[in-house]
Parts: sequence; structure tokens; C-alpha cells
Amino acid sequence: MRNKFESLELGQFIPLHYHHNMLNDSVRVKGFKEAINMVVKPGDKVLELGGGTGAQSFFAAQKAQKVFCVERNPELVDAARNFLSTNINGEKVEVIQADALHYLPPEPVDVVICEMLHTGLLREKQLYVIDSFKKRYLEKFGGPLPIFVPEASIQAVQPVQQDFYFEGFYAPTILFQDPRSIQERSKDLADPEIFQMLSYTEPFSQTCCWDGKVVIAENGELNALRLITKNILAINFETGSTVDWHTQYIILPLPTPLSVAAGDHISIRFNYQGGDPLSALTDSLEVYFGKETRRWSEEETLNING
Ligand SMILES: C[S@@+](CC[C@H](N)C(=O)[O-])C[C@H]1O[C@@H](n2cnc3c(N)ncnc32)[C@H](O)[C@@H]1O
Repeated sequence: MRNKFESLELGQFIPLHYHHNMLNDSVRVKGFKEAINMVVKPGDKVLELGGGTGAQSFFAAQKAQKVFCVERNPELVDAARNFLSTNINGEKVEVIQADALHYLPPEPVDVVICEMLHTGLLREKQLYVIDSFKKRYLEKFGGPLPIFVPEASIQAVQPVQQDFYFEGFYAPTILFQDPRSIQERSKDLADPEIFQMLSYTEPFSQTCCWDGKVVIAENGELNALRLITKNILAINFETGSTVDWHTQYIILPLPTPLSVAAGDHISIRFNYQGGDPLSALTDSLEVYFGKETRRWSEEETLNING
């Protein structure tokens, strides 16, 4: 049983060494650098919610007049201040130790950067934080809202046949996959189906859900679902191009595999709130195959979640 406190804190404390891994992810860092460079105009005021080591605030500071960088974790506040003090234009960034769920800048800002993104929009509080920020910002300053980086998130689910044998050891467990690598251990059984598209400037629901059908394209054993979250970091309206970034794919094993054939219709249903633990997805997951309905029992769900 998870308690309310655990659920509220979930995903909000990421240790420093994990931030170093995030900095080491060149696709991620290049993507945000390009997006921030595209969106921030000379003289802008920028707010970053969840600044971590301050890297994205640093990118913004190369053009902005002022950057407010809000971070809750004191270890990271110290790290960001240290790193920024040795980087060019770092003095334009004010690192503020505060909870992004309550903080508002002292003046209106042109751009808000917020990367509290986890696949499925699970665990981290992106939806909750941005929704709360928008309401409080509009109350204090009126419109218009700033531009958000990322601008939007698109989520999809895909049935797969996953090899869960590791050197002969069978372990059907949750796996992460690099979206840019060829997945030799996965066989795609159908195309991904989009279940959610949201723009951060528009009003959005914090519920992530789907009740839809997938037409199987390949014969195989449906034993897992792949969860895909693509984030549109910035949109260039002149060229019609976007800067995109996928979080790592998640492979969710299904407790009871189904033998499927091309042309079969499989229904998938789930419903959770953004920021919920992964178990909220698996707890609500139902798969319908023909007339057969599967609702995973508590015991099976526990197995999935390890
Ligand atoms: C995924 S990290 C991204 C860090 C940084 N923006 C980057 O790209 O390297 C999310 C950051 O948000 C911070 N955070 C999470 N919840 C927060 C909250 N309620 N208020 C302020 N910071 C928060 C975490 O401590 C973490 O540093």
C-alpha cells in the first residue's frame, strides 16, 4: 500500500549522480539546448521549474536578460550555484530553493522551462506542476501565458513480443529501452497507438487514459506493452519543424501472454493520473482479446511491479 506522502514525493528527489547521467545524455542535452536557443529571444525573462544542475538555465542565460531557476533539492541548489558560477553568463541565473508547486516569479516571464518528464508522464510531477503554475500565474499577472519548453507531449502504447530471457534466466520485469537503438529483443506486433496529446499552454487533463483497440499486424506472443512518450521541446512556426525528445521507452510485461495473429483486435484500457507510480498504470490495465477479458489480479500486478 502506498501512502499519500510517498505518492506526493515520488519522482521529486533525483540524486546528484543521476543528474550527471542526464548531463551525459548528449541527445537530451543537445535537444534542450537547441529548443531553448530557438524559443528564448534576446532580453527575455525565463523561469526554469526544477533546475537540477542548472544546465538548461545556463542555455537560456546565453540570450535572456534574467533567469529564475527554481529547485527544491538543497544538494542540487548548491551544485547549480557552483556550476553556474564557473560558466559564462551564469551570473544572470538566480537559483532559488523553493517548491515549484508554490513558487511564482516576482515579474512576468516570457519562457518557462520545465523538465519533470518520465515516460508515461508517470512518477515526476510535470502535469501537476505546470497546471498549478498556470493557474497561479494567471491570477497574479493575467495573460498571456509564457511559452513552455517542452511545448507538448504525445503518448502512445504498442503491443510487443519481448524476450525476457537473460542468459537463460527468465525474468518478465519492467525494462527501459533506448528509443534510438534497434531493439533486437522486441518484436513489434502492431504500430504504436496514440492515447494522449497535450499542449502545455492549453488547458489539459491530468488523467492519462485509453480505452481503444489495436489491430495486430504480426503473429506472435503478446507478452508486453511498450509505453512511448515523445516531447515536442520547441516548434519553429516559420519552417514548420520541431525539436523532439523521447524519454526512454518502458516495456511493461503482461502477467498472462496471449497468442495473437495478424488481424486480431486487441483492446487495451488503463487510467492513471500524471505523476502516479508505475503501479497505477498496471493496476488499472485491462486487455480484451476477442471475448476474453483480462483484468490483472493484485498478485499478478505485484509481480509486474517487482
Ligand atoms: C528531471 S530533473 C531535470 C533537471 C534539469 N532541468 C535538467 O534538465 O538537467 C527534474 C528536477 O526537478 C526537481 N524538482 C522536482 N520536483 C520539484 C518541485 N516540486 N519543486 C522544485 N524542483 C523540483 C528535481 O529535484 C530535479 O532536479
